[in-house]
Amino acid sequence: MKLLALETSCDETALAVFEFHSEKEFTILSEQLNSQIDIHQEYGGVFPAVAKREHTKNLYPLLIAALEESSLLTKRKETTDMPQELLDIVSKLLERDPDNLELLVRFYEQYEMPHIDVLAVTYGPGLEMALWTGFNFARALSLLLNAELVPTNHMEGHMYASLISQDESGVFTILDPGFPNLNLLISGGHTELVIADSEHAYKKIGQTLDDAVGEAYDKSARLIGIPYPGGPQISKFADEYRTAHSTVEIELPRPMLHTKNYDFSFSGLKTAVLTLVDKQREITDTFRRELSFELEESIAEVLIKKTKNAIHEYGPTSLIIGGGVSANNHLREKFTELCKQEGVQLFLSPKKYTGDNAVMIGIAGYRRFINKKYPNDTERVTGRLSLED
Ligand code: KG4
Ligand code: ZN
Repeated sequence: MKLLALETSCDETALAVFEFHSEKEFTILSEQLNSQIDIHQEYGGVFPAVAKREHTKNLYPLLIAALEESSLLTKRKETTDMPQELLDIVSKLLERDPDNLELLVRFYEQYEMPHIDVLAVTYGPGLEMALWTGFNFARALSLLLNAELVPTNHMEGHMYASLISQDESGVFTILDPGFPNLNLLISGGHTELVIADSEHAYKKIGQTLDDAVGEAYDKSARLIGIPYPGGPQISKFADEYRTAHSTVEIELPRPMLHTKNYDFSFSGLKTAVLTLVDKQREITDTFRRELSFELEESIAEVLIKKTKNAIHEYGPTSLIIGGGVSANNHLREKFTELCKQEGVQLFLSPKKYTGDNAVMIGIAGYRRFINKKYPNDTERVTGRLSLED
């Protein structure tokens, strides 16, 4: 069974082609990713109209590259016109994207339509302008390929990215985390604790009331002159400080550490960082290292405490951590320790798949397809899509 996955919720345009061998085993035939980070750096964050423009530009070349690498691209012996009925529907879907409409029409005329069974596409959460670009492209493409369209939740994708292991021959297995399990989602837009009672059945028990963890990293980074997205560099500075020192002079708050619920608040951290920065005559790397360390300590302490409380209250079999921030070394170590202490199995994503990618969307979409639990009448994207929807 072949599946094509497509992700455009934020600043990465990503496509992946899979061969699924069974309900839990697959091989990746091609993965394509075009990051817009360099372009967005100029704006200090992701600028939706620019993201949309870049996705629009990237989608078709990445599609061709993905199909080519998967050996699924064959020229027709004779060019064939697209049937009028199909052309009418596809033209309507891509009404606002005439360039891709033209490219897809030419694609149909020139190539044999490859055999793809399922097309999984992110329909939320994310930047609506960015989501629409990929979603409409996928809808049109699913008609050309006669593939089942599976609208997929980006955050569920992040979870599945942590539930994979790969053997020496390259075959991936989707792991069984047991139920109930606890999910900690930490990304640029989300900080959530979620209980899953069975596959796809989620109950959110807490979330950030303002900034997400990734935002706390990125906004603080910006205040000390580190370009977007600052998370990886803050983490590097923090690690450097950690190996050389055991104490710290700078002090940052631990927001909502002692509240008796599972909610978070990180916007106070950037305000506290700003106050410290204002007092600084000069921002040196020494200051940046120490501040990064203290920021990371604060974030880790809050995340660990709340997660530990949730483990005690809900007794999950496992903890699954997903999202871009889960690339963080310190958090990975701290959560490994916690899970050992608590006797809970920990699932972390391979570092390659912690950030946004299409592989995670393909896995989540495939599991939804197998379990027949996906919205097959969805005509729109949902920027604030929740896991409980
Ligand atoms: O999941 P993701 O790629 O995109 C969203 O869905 O938001 O997450 C991106 C976030 C950014 O805020 C980035 O700074 C953060 O993940 N991030 C990190 C690290 N690597 C990426 N934060 C802390 N430490 C890292 N090593
Ligand atoms: Zn993400």
